[in-house]
Amino acid sequence: MERGNTMHNFSYYAPTQVVFGRGAEAQIGALVKAQNCRKVLLHYGGGSAQRSGLLDRIRAALETEGVAFTELGGVAPNPRLSLVRRGIELCRQEGVDFILAVGGGSVIDSSKAIGYGVTNEGDVWDFYDRRRQAAACLPVGVVLTIAAAGSEMSNSSVITNEDGGVKRGYSNNLCRPRFAVMDPELTMTLPDYQTASGCTDILMHTMERYFTGRGGNSALTDGIAEALLRTVMDSARVLRDDPRNYDARAEVMWAGSLSHNGLTECGNGGNDFSVHALEHELSGMYDVAHGAGLAALWGSWARYVYRDCLPRFERFAVRVLGVPAGADAEETARAGIEAMEDFFRSIGMPTNLHELGVEPSEEDLVTLARKCAVATGGVKGSAKQLREPDMLAIYQMAV
Ligand code: NZQ
Ligand code: ZN
Repeated sequence: MERGNTMHNFSYYAPTQVVFGRGAEAQIGALVKAQNCRKVLLHYGGGSAQRSGLLDRIRAALETEGVAFTELGGVAPNPRLSLVRRGIELCRQEGVDFILAVGGGSVIDSSKAIGYGVTNEGDVWDFYDRRRQAAACLPVGVVLTIAAAGSEMSNSSVITNEDGGVKRGYSNNLCRPRFAVMDPELTMTLPDYQTASGCTDILMHTMERYFTGRGGNSALTDGIAEALLRTVMDSARVLRDDPRNYDARAEVMWAGSLSHNGLTECGNGGNDFSVHALEHELSGMYDVAHGAGLAALWGSWARYVYRDCLPRFERFAVRVLGVPAGADAEETARAGIEAMEDFFRSIGMPTNLHELGVEPSEEDLVTLARKCAVATGGVKGSAKQLREPDMLAIYQMAV
């Protein structure tokens, strides 16, 4: 084998204990107790966990185990820095040394940010603004209620600073959760739009690693990635028609964690993440659901870059979407992109900004591209390296 085609070296670190399945919720009390902490912050979102009765059951479980806790609810989707700051203050006042996140990516990311803020001096935004690295993070445990962001096993946290609508991610292994309780039944109360947005985000976490300009040199990782993508697409279609289907909920939930814990990049040299970079500016400015924002941008990104990453797009079309392999690789790749957009439409996801409900002016598009370039240090991507004019062109195509 040619040297250029060998599997890339990698580091894989996935320390989170996953407790998965029907009834997994019953183990929350014991899992927290085993952390031997003085006091827990119970952190949650805007209301769904209260309405479903989950929070009351968790409170009861902690009381039964004799675990002291305090609470902070109200995390909004695209979690805000101001609430993170309140959480840091509260944890310091109350002597909190463990955070239990009950919710989805927003609550988990807010928990991770609070964890950084409590254990490091100075302004927590510095980490998100790339000014310095965190030296520690409070331990975080998760009770997952939506399969989407993959934050329950990931090293990243994404926070929106209301001052300027700036959304930034910070990645550090210190924040990987200690445990994640994943009971697929807890996701059955999700609105259909959130289920579909979640499935899109899960697909995208693996696609961002699959479309690599560095070869994709692991047959095993490619196989895992393709199986994950097909499974999530099949399950998303099942859930569109039958939202209470346990097996589809379970497949999607497990895929969500594997899609973003690093597994689907091992050895393939992956990591494009341009669509994520473009989307974060969108949800930072317009407060849209992250997954839906990704769907609205993906087709435009794909059409802009596919010629620079043709073998991967061709393979994706054939192995993931079942497009017959034609003589013309470009044609096959384009058919794959169209099939993917058809899939997004079939589950009620947008394929452009208008369908997303966002109508930016030309000036807004320029601002989005400028912010994206700043956030990425001027260049982003592996399938094709994008600079500010490329970012602007993709936003313009997505209108
Ligand atoms: O706030 P509540 O009332 O709980 O409602 C939430 C929220 O409105 C609702 N929800 C959650 N579980 C529910 C439910 N409604 C009914 N029943 C349930 N069981 O769903 C809405 C969305 O919740 P959110 O936590 O925002 O969803 P998601 O998990 O998609 O997280 C999105 C955030 O994660 C970031 C995104 O940018 C966005 O800010 N990401 C984080 C990543 C990471 N840390 O690794 C990676 C991702 O690429 C992503 O960027
Ligand atoms: Zn995502």
